Amino acid sequence: MGKLVSAAGMNALVTGASSGIGRGLALRLAHEGARVALVARRVPELEAVAEEIARGGGEARVLPCDVSDRAQATGIAEQVLREFGAVDILVNNAGYGHHRTFLEWPLEDMERMMRVNYFGALYLTKALLPQMVERGRGWLVFLASVAGKLAVPDESAYVASKFALVGLGESLSFELEGAGVHVLNVCPGTIRTDFFDAEALRRMPAVARRMMTDPGPLIDAIMKALRRGQHELVFPRFVGLGSVVRAIAPGFMRWSVRRTVLAAHR
Ligand SMILES: NC(=O)c1ccc[n+]([C@@H]2O[C@H](COP(=O)([O-])OP(=O)(O)OC[C@H]3O[C@@H](n4cnc5c(N)ncnc54)[C@H](OP(=O)(O)O)[C@@H]3O)[C@@H](O)[C@H]2O)c1
Repeated sequence: MGKLVSAAGMNALVTGASSGIGRGLALRLAHEGARVALVARRVPELEAVAEEIARGGGEARVLPCDVSDRAQATGIAEQVLREFGAVDILVNNAGYGHHRTFLEWPLEDMERMMRVNYFGALYLTKALLPQMVERGRGWLVFLASVAGKLAVPDESAYVASKFALVGLGESLSFELEGAGVHVLNVCPGTIRTDFFDAEALRRMPAVARRMMTDPGPLIDAIMKALRRGQHELVFPRFVGLGSVVRAIAPGFMRWSVRRTVLAAHR
């Protein structure tokens, strides 16, 4: 139990489906035969994804929503349940980040980041989990980050939101054992998507040079992790070593993070 053998015939809801990783996952789930609800704020981008799915013979529904707004998130959850009857797969992927020091970061944006990256996922999970438990079947995917496992400087509000998401997913994964609902936390390293605006790329030139340029391999790895019934995917795998090193040699890890971050700015 817990292994997603095939997405064919399932109903999925993907947040942040208008670009990047969410778009890639929505297309892949639809390609595998799932009916997909596409959630984000930009309607033309969502419609383009829906059209691509329809051209491939799949079925998608565009549900515009700002996930940080509790009423909107609850509203689209109710709507998708009315229209699809049930949701088997919920991908909590919507999110954004910034690269700035704590002192220069406006408090309003720090609050908003938590509302989008953490509360958005919480609202949809709260709204859609009961029918999964009732039916004894479901998959919850949380798109966290390596930054949800290992803190780095100049990303404090983002790191905090992703640590919260990792904690939520991991705790739920224990709670739902035996309920037929499986939880997968996904912690990717850096991938070139709209997530990084020009300012962020300018601030981290070395990171920008090393970034993966295609979310495709991450999408493959997520689907594989779901098929295997994994609870966590750190991608690429070597970046997961950081948390192991921090646990056994915290002093070395601090030195290494400082050194890596300094080098990333060069
Ligand atoms: N790229 C990376 O290196 C990386 C690494 C680790 C983790 N991640 C995580 O992966 C997730 C996807 O990121 P990405 O790289 O695919 O970036 P992206 O291309 O910028 O996609 C972000 C998605 O989130 C949506 N979104 C943002 N704010 C929203 C809101 N308030 N309500 C609803 N949707 C919202 C955006 O759609 P609209 O603008 O249309 O609303 C967009 O579809 C994020 O949670 C990010 O933290 C990314």
